[in-house]
Amino acid sequence: MDSSRTAEFIKGYIPNKDETLKRLREKAEKDEVPVIRQETEAFILSVIALLKPRRILELGTATGYSAISMAKAAERYMKADQNFVIDTIEDWAPRIPEATANIKEAGAADRINLIEGDALEVIKGMKEPYDLVFIDAAKGQYPDYLKEAVRLTRSGSVIVADNVMLDGEIMESKYIVERRDRTIHKRMREFLRQAAMDERLSTSILPVGDGVAFCVRM
Ligand SMILES: C[S@@+](CC[C@H](N)C(=O)[O-])C[C@H]1O[C@@H](n2cnc3c(N)ncnc32)[C@H](O)[C@@H]1O
Repeated sequence: MDSSRTAEFIKGYIPNKDETLKRLREKAEKDEVPVIRQETEAFILSVIALLKPRRILELGTATGYSAISMAKAAERYMKADQNFVIDTIEDWAPRIPEATANIKEAGAADRINLIEGDALEVIKGMKEPYDLVFIDAAKGQYPDYLKEAVRLTRSGSVIVADNVMLDGEIMESKYIVERRDRTIHKRMREFLRQAAMDERLSTSILPVGDGVAFCVRM
């Protein structure tokens, strides 16, 4: 199957009714800020509908698009009296003001805590467990993120990691991969091996968007 044709076909069945999100996605694309692909977003929103998570952790905020989308979904799928919170971490200072403004403008400032800092350093200091962890920050650190994500989850929690196929490069031999990309290639394979072998996790690697690892904490 041609994966770009498949993605285009699937995108035809993703309703994009929210004007704020539409605008934020267009702006991010114009500014070349990497945001979650539409198919991956649809998948994670289904996870939220099923799981109804009270506590969500996101590594990699960028301009706040995915955090806002998750907040809107949680608002929709959860009962009015059910509280939820999204903690999202971003280390690139220039992105913080825009993300803060977007979150405020979307009316999600009371749901989303934007934490400025290195994702790994921040999560190492966290203790309270999460129901859903979305890993979308530095690809070379995915194995370390996974270790901390497992520590920060409990039975029934879900960990979703984006971009695990590295635009298809993950399937190539390391000798074919450009030298400068070899470390990320090696680290991502290490992440996938850890996610698949860890007996505390039930993991599926899905060819959604740029590849998603879907791990259910046992
Ligand atoms: C793919 S983007 C996140 C996209 C966002 N989740 C969305 O879909 O709207 C990855 C983000 O992670 C941030 N990032 C990279 N390394 C990081 C680190 N070590 N700690 C925190 N954030 C990091 C980047 O600056 C970038 O904004």
